[in-house]
Amino acid sequence: MTIIVTGGAGFIGANFIFYMLREHPEDRIVCVDKLTYAGNLSTLKEVMGKPNFRFVKLDICDREGVYRLFEEEKPDVVVNFAAESHVDRSIEDPSVFLQTNIIGTGVLMDACRKYGIERYHQVSTDEVYGDLPLDRPDLFFTEETPLHTSSPYSSSKAGADLLVMAYHRTFGLPVTISRCSNNYGPYQFPEKLIPLMIANCLNDRPLPVYGRGLNVRDWLYVEDHCKATDLIIRRGRVGEVYNIGGHNEMRNIDIVRLICRALGKPERLITYVTDRKGHDMRYAIDPAKIHAELGWLPETRFAEGIQRTIDWYLTHRDWWEEIVSGEYQHYYERMYGDR
Ligand code: NAD
Ligand code: TYD
Repeated sequence: MTIIVTGGAGFIGANFIFYMLREHPEDRIVCVDKLTYAGNLSTLKEVMGKPNFRFVKLDICDREGVYRLFEEEKPDVVVNFAAESHVDRSIEDPSVFLQTNIIGTGVLMDACRKYGIERYHQVSTDEVYGDLPLDRPDLFFTEETPLHTSSPYSSSKAGADLLVMAYHRTFGLPVTISRCSNNYGPYQFPEKLIPLMIANCLNDRPLPVYGRGLNVRDWLYVEDHCKATDLIIRRGRVGEVYNIGGHNEMRNIDIVRLICRALGKPERLITYVTDRKGHDMRYAIDPAKIHAELGWLPETRFAEGIQRTIDWYLTHRDWWEEIVSGEYQHYYERMYGDR
């Protein structure tokens, strides 16, 4: 089968490509990526020369380019990871989030309709459900939880999800959607919590914790997300949404402390800064559906996954040091300079 993977030069997309080429060497993977600030071609260097892999630099909003590629490749499956993905940037400037996350999704699905497809899979997020209160640990997001977004990022992802479902109902497009909790692991851009704290620790820089650091996220090792996505595109039921998450809820402050300890850095690096606007309090996934239907459960325990991640950032300094220079420096100054 030929699988188009969009956003494959980013964090999860790249990990997904590695996973698929390893687990399904009989398939052909075509990676489509615009190479925004978050896309890094060097991430894909180990697969670049493989005969069943092709990289195409393309914006998913470029309708003609996308149609041309579909005509050429005749894909069986499209997995759409491409997105603007960082909440803080969406608060700074929502417009590109609407463009890529909603319009881009529409263009891809139009191409699927025009050229025919076995499956269109939309990689969504648990953030479309909004947040849960800290004092109700009994509550979890299920696939029936109403969409109730907080940030321009999550709203754009929810908009895309609605469009995907509309293309299924109106045009019969064979779609699936997955809504995953926070991922961590190798190749994550160091603007997100875990890699940012690791990089700052290693550079002895302050560790900026928003508000009081009490917000809770449900952390999943990226490879577990990749495995779940693979199961859904092969065995998931068309027209269905699957939540992906691992009952691994942690407070931000506890994660930051753990990273300090693991790297032998003093907790006095922790600096409490002004809270994020509209900051979601708690995310927590109920993965009962994907477990019951597809037998998926997370396999990597947090203690093991975070150690693997820290080791990876320690041994791949050149990957992230290149990233934290240049444009990112300006972003960092804008975001944290006088916070
Ligand atoms: P990322 O920001 O690391 O990567 C996004 C990739 O998309 C980059 O390579 C970028 O160049 C590419 N891209 C952006 N705009 C594009 C466009 N217009 N055309 C083509 N390519 C474009 O993001 P990520 O963390 O890997 O997230 C991937 C997907 O998973 C996103 O859809 C995100 O919403 C979803 N998700 C992420 C998490 C998480 O914890 N990171 C959790 C749940 C869901
Ligand atoms: P992030 O990695 O941006 O993911 P998301 O907002 O999509 O969950 O942030 C994870 C949590 O960490 C979130 O509650 C915000 C918080 N955070 C900080 O406290 N400091 C930081 O510098 C960053 C980037 C995030």
